[in-house]
Amino acid sequence: MSKPLKLMVGNWKMHGDLSANAAFVAGLTAEVSELSCRAALCVPTVYLAQMQDLLAASPVELGAQDVSAHEAGAYTGEVSAQMLRDFSVRYAIVGHSERRLFHAETDALVAVKVQRALAVGITPIVCVGESLTEREAGQTEAVVKRQLAAVIQANGHCISEIVVAYEPVWAIGTGLTASPEQAQQVHAVLRTQLLAASSHADRVAVLYGGSMTPHNAADLLAQPDVDGGLIGGASLKAPDFLSLLKAASR
Ligand code: PGA
Repeated sequence: MSKPLKLMVGNWKMHGDLSANAAFVAGLTAEVSELSCRAALCVPTVYLAQMQDLLAASPVELGAQDVSAHEAGAYTGEVSAQMLRDFSVRYAIVGHSERRLFHAETDALVAVKVQRALAVGITPIVCVGESLTEREAGQTEAVVKRQLAAVIQANGHCISEIVVAYEPVWAIGTGLTASPEQAQQVHAVLRTQLLAASSHADRVAVLYGGSMTPHNAADLLAQPDVDGGLIGGASLKAPDFLSLLKAASR
């Protein structure tokens, strides 16, 4: 069986505006169609409609950065999975460390959000990762396994439909990157945990995220259990994002 294509996902966080978004997509150029990797951009919710139009003729798919844990109802400010679906959203990041930290999202809440996404056919990109204190205390494995276990428990056999992103919190936006060996070690742990939950979980892409750049991507992506990247800062400029897609296409 040929190796599945790498999956490279940009996470724009709270960046972008109407004209910068249009310039970004124009900057991706025709080259993007010649790449042999899968790509997506997770943009702020208010730009989904614009980006749906801009990316309509592009192989780059659309993603959201969060999804409500509720199906519908009196939840001011929330956006449901079904609403995201209306804009051809293919992926939704769930449980990013910034949501866990700044919005007090628990493992249990993240697990429900994953259910909501899966119920409408959106692929959740489930983020797990340890803080620096946890790493230094030797708790890395225990933390990521606990975070993933909550999602596995709530989602049973559907677990083969998710994407997982290992994002060490200490590497996000800091310029510090996990070494390829550190990343591989945790990815292997996550892979084993997924396979123990479902025999179909070999198809789950496990992405690395945390200061991935065009300079370090090739070494990270060369690891046997690194199936792609979740990229923040380096996904904000079209030439950088293109370089990352090229690194994943080798
Ligand atoms: P970074 O962000 O690439 O800027 O470190 C990654 C992420 O938070 O998804």
